[in-house]
Amino acid sequence: MTKRKKIGILTAGGDCPGLNAALRGVGKTAITKYDMEVVGISSGFLGLINKEFIPLDEPSLSGILTLGGTILGTSREKPFKKTGLLSIDKPKLIKEHYDEAGFDCIVCIGGNGTQRTAALLAKEGLNVIGIPKTIDNDVWGTEQTFGFDSALLITTDAIDRLHTTANSHKRIMVIEIMGHHTGWLTLYSGMAGGGDVILIPELEYDLKNINQYLKNRAKSGKPYSIIVVAEGIKKPKKVSAATFIAEKIEEGVGIETRKTILGYIQRGGSPSPMDRLLATSFGAYAVDLIANENYGNMVIKKGEIISHLSLDIVGGKLRLVPLDHPLLNKARGLGVCLGQYQ
Ligand code: F6P
Repeated sequence: MTKRKKIGILTAGGDCPGLNAALRGVGKTAITKYDMEVVGISSGFLGLINKEFIPLDEPSLSGILTLGGTILGTSREKPFKKTGLLSIDKPKLIKEHYDEAGFDCIVCIGGNGTQRTAALLAKEGLNVIGIPKTIDNDVWGTEQTFGFDSALLITTDAIDRLHTTANSHKRIMVIEIMGHHTGWLTLYSGMAGGGDVILIPELEYDLKNINQYLKNRAKSGKPYSIIVVAEGIKKPKKVSAATFIAEKIEEGVGIETRKTILGYIQRGGSPSPMDRLLATSFGAYAVDLIANENYGNMVIKKGEIISHLSLDIVGGKLRLVPLDHPLLNKARGLGVCLGQYQ
């Protein structure tokens, strides 16, 4: 008789729609397909440090597929970050609590920081499996993270709404999209929402060029313009991207300009159907890896296939928008301004 496996699950980093769908995918597969014992770890890696565990059974996993956020809570705790000479040895504590709890494996659901921590814990001898999540879609190794599609629905709806008010007032509207240091959500939102100017961190922009483009639009009779900017573009430290760009445009073009910073609305609410499917598939696949004791991997999406890559290779690397991405070429062909010389 092989020993019944006991797995821990944690959600870490910025929350996003689909986390509970992933928890459900892991938990229900582990219980139903493999009769594993499943334990929730609260508040990301903090829960491992403070031994805050929540037994998860079928009843506690039902009704959460469509629920936004995470029933376990999350944190941005970085156990390997040195916080001072007298700081406690958090990785050591985590290892002790992992052994005490009798975990066979822990599933770490999170973005780049989480996968980096998971890779380091694997090096400390823990059995870990990573599942990539974030609205930023910037986890190297996977073509998509869950959270991205749900956020895209929110941002695209917001941009659609800006068109009507911009047209009524004949204004230039600037909307700031999340994405940390990358432009995936901004590029996809800008193209889906019909943005006239799309600015992402991966591409240098020139304000003179943007302003000239907008003046030409006005001269050609376009009644308004929509500017979609990533929060991570190059700008002065103390000011938001939207504020900086809106002020420079109003100054340089002379047309009334207003800004919208979407912020945390992009991370809220129920997951999209595609995110529910992706999160569930990631979760189920993670449990198959555990059943085969194929530890130290992160689940990935490659085309239509769900597969895995070693955490050693992934380890929290950032996935930037490649400069030859097809959407960038389509944007240029449509006459969208990406901030460079037209
Ligand atoms: O990683 C998701 C994200 O929403 C980023 O797009 C954003 O820059 C960051 O989290 C905000 O971090 P926090 O939730 O800690 O304010």
